Amino acid sequence: MGRTFFKAGFAFFIFCNILIAQSSTQLLSPRIETKIDSLIRLMTVEEKLGQLNQIGGTWYDAKHDRVGEETVKLLREGKIGSFLGVVGAEETERVQRIAVNESRLHIPVLFGFDVIHGIATITPIPLGEASSWNPELVERSAHMAGIEASSAGIHWTYAPMVDIARDPRWGRIAEGSGEDPYLGSVMAAARVKGFQGKNLLDQGSILSCAKHFAAYGGAEAGRDYNTVDMSERTLKEIYLPPYKAAVDAGAWTLMSSFNEIAGIPSTANHWLMTNLLRDEWGFKGLVVSDYTAVQELINHRVAANRVDAGILALTAGVDIDMVSKIYVNDLIDPARSKKLSGEVLDESVRRVLRVKFAYGLFDNPYRNCDPSVGKKVLLSKEHRDVARAIAEQSIVLLKNGNNLLPLDKSTKTIALIGPLAGNENRRNLVGAWAWAKRPEDVVSVIDGIKSKISPNTKLLYDKGCEIESDSGARIEQAVKIANQADVVVAVLGESQHVSGEAASKTNLDLPFMQKELLKALHKTGKPIVLVVMNGRPLTLQWEADNIPAILESWHLGVETGNALANVLFGDVNPSAKLPVSFPRNVGQIPLYYNYKSTGRPLSDSDKYTSRYLDAPNTPLYPFGYGLSYTTFTYGNLKVSSGTIKKDQNVTVSVEVKNSGTRSGDEVVQLYLRDDVASVTRPVKELKGFKKISLNPGETKTVEFTLTPNDLSFYNLDMKKIVEPGTFTVYVGGNSADCLQTKFDVVE
Ligand code: BGC
Repeated sequence: MGRTFFKAGFAFFIFCNILIAQSSTQLLSPRIETKIDSLIRLMTVEEKLGQLNQIGGTWYDAKHDRVGEETVKLLREGKIGSFLGVVGAEETERVQRIAVNESRLHIPVLFGFDVIHGIATITPIPLGEASSWNPELVERSAHMAGIEASSAGIHWTYAPMVDIARDPRWGRIAEGSGEDPYLGSVMAAARVKGFQGKNLLDQGSILSCAKHFAAYGGAEAGRDYNTVDMSERTLKEIYLPPYKAAVDAGAWTLMSSFNEIAGIPSTANHWLMTNLLRDEWGFKGLVVSDYTAVQELINHRVAANRVDAGILALTAGVDIDMVSKIYVNDLIDPARSKKLSGEVLDESVRRVLRVKFAYGLFDNPYRNCDPSVGKKVLLSKEHRDVARAIAEQSIVLLKNGNNLLPLDKSTKTIALIGPLAGNENRRNLVGAWAWAKRPEDVVSVIDGIKSKISPNTKLLYDKGCEIESDSGARIEQAVKIANQADVVVAVLGESQHVSGEAASKTNLDLPFMQKELLKALHKTGKPIVLVVMNGRPLTLQWEADNIPAILESWHLGVETGNALANVLFGDVNPSAKLPVSFPRNVGQIPLYYNYKSTGRPLSDSDKYTSRYLDAPNTPLYPFGYGLSYTTFTYGNLKVSSGTIKKDQNVTVSVEVKNSGTRSGDEVVQLYLRDDVASVTRPVKELKGFKKISLNPGETKTVEFTLTPNDLSFYNLDMKKIVEPGTFTVYVGGNSADCLQTKFDVVE
């Protein structure tokens, strides 16, 4: 009896610890929670709704660099709890002083802003950073963004975006970490930790906001804001894990998404915002709506008017209304008449105040208002070094025919061609969601290359055409200089504004005239290195068939030119891997590596299998793919035991050898397949990766531990379980090319 009790107690102890470890945002100390309650008791209905009201600030109105008098009046009346886009140490201090000194209850405001990949020192777009498969560096990058943002008065970034995206037509794929829930979760956690720092109260830490909850990336046909409809299984297995990882990493805030899922707009989804997020995941922070998403419930036609929209959203668990001004203007009567539950209202106010306490605003409302900090940190050498390091690790080598790369620094003549190569289009190199206004802060490719080549190397340059519309008149000139060169470097791709929000596309080829330019250059017969800059996977089949060397650089940020030059000339050996599959053509989309077998898996000899008549099923470049200037050989894949019990771990080891002639880094990837299960399982799923450095000839043994959680899945009853049976382990340098072995799981 005693022993049983002891065992039960011990199990309970472990259970509690797991709960604590899994839910990182906590209630604050009882003293603070009591303070919050006392404050709520003092508040009028208007003041409560004011805390839930977020309004657009100076940034949305270029004509004003100060918050206007009308807004100041609302602030004094306690009708604003937070701002979007009031930026600058001086202005945020001025506004905060009004909130703290002139409103009745002296409650400080929060300043939020979209710091997606930097504020002055712009780093690669998040999809680019995810290609580094280097969470430590991604965390540093986010922390650096936090330091810079906080120097500009910002408390809270609307990042990371952790939406899984399997459709490159969707422009916002640029803002996330690609198609995979495991990689997406690792990156989500890294970014949350980076923004929020070791301690939220430290100078340089800012609140993070995991968005867009949930499944915003599942928009039908990749059209932004479109309907999302998916099974509960796909939602839970593919789309939800990164949000959960962000919550577990301690994200204090989440943003509700614009989209509906299976008939329920997220901003009105009680199951999502309350049952799952609060009750199941234990989240104690706040949820902010997306921009006007509360009002958009009327367009979704689940609310007939503003009052209904407000009640629906707040009752679902969306605490802050971003700019619709519905909560503050339309919910006063419903709150008084109790049509809106008083408990619901108080709970949302409690969450907002809790976040303000957690960020230390009641002790130090001016914590980010010292204008001298910005002068030290913005675009500092130290920050540029981080931006360059992550840019270098974001560049994916897609093809390197005849080892054309790296280029020799003393090549006699190099022709640099393309609208993204010179100084005039530098603003585009930073990509979507980058507010840096000064193109001169961005190192262009031409400047990067100039600083690298020998004094005897002749660098010829022509932009060849414009990024988008163009008559093609300059192509001849570009061909002329290509003919004089030993090698051509063509820098082509997308402008900054065709990825990110409201930037969906149905054609993913290089813009027409740029492709014509490339074809004309190809006709010269000169060796060509193609550098592609973009915010999404493009369809590069012709390029892959005809151009010997291709670098996928994404939009790389302020250090673009230096990072690219380092890779082009071999001072840095590329190590990035694709976080998303590259389709051969748009018709293959959606395309992802963790697909299901189907009842008729592809067979080349049988027409009646799941296939296209006019294209292969495979992507042009698979998930996890990326080359190096050296080669890696995998061997001796082993599992610690051929048979394990359901609750046991298994260790997987593999030897990786640098079989080439240069030092290099390799991302060793582990995938798993449950061979036979009670519900269909993906053909493989990423369960671990390690980035290692190897000198020429060096071999390292890499080990992974697979836990019961890695082996589990949602069964017929949507319970997460491990089923006995055989599992196949795949280990390799990309999702399509792996060694494999098996182990059995028994009861
Ligand atoms: C976007 C969000 C962003 C918000 C505030 C919306 O349009 O969907 O990602 O955080 O605007 O700028």
